[in-house]
Amino acid sequence: MVCLGNICRSPLAEGILRSKCDTLIVDSAGTASYHVGEPPDHRAINVARKNGIDISNLRARQFSINDFEEFDFIFAMDTNNYKDIINLTKSNEHKKKVFLILDKLNQSNQNVPDPYYGGDEGFNKVFNLLKKACNAIIEKY
Ligand code: 4NP
Repeated sequence: MVCLGNICRSPLAEGILRSKCDTLIVDSAGTASYHVGEPPDHRAINVARKNGIDISNLRARQFSINDFEEFDFIFAMDTNNYKDIINLTKSNEHKKKVFLILDKLNQSNQNVPDPYYGGDEGFNKVFNLLKKACNAIIEKY
């Protein structure tokens, strides 16, 4: 699960997907390094907690090219994250692992909106979108 900062969207996606299937190995990362080592944003921790998921132990890290070897699927939260990840690929095998997380939901906007500069409502919306996306991942990948 990859977003920009690895403190809002992708740690939520990580926590939600893990909560749905404890046999999957799930991790998250950011394309940027600003927040490396930090816990998720308190608003992300709160919306997860309200929904019975604890993400407070997660710590931000930056996406690395090793992740193309480590993981079978790489889900980008928005088209900017997607392009940044694709730009790091060196083979078609790696490109084929990269998806937009909302691409299996039938909706025109395929971006999970960045909630960082908004309020709690944005985090609720992101949580609900990611819940749907994770259900689709379990069913379709
Ligand atoms: P995220 O949200 O990519 O969902 O973790 C953001 C977190 C931090 C910043 C931007 C987006 N930032 O500019 O610091």
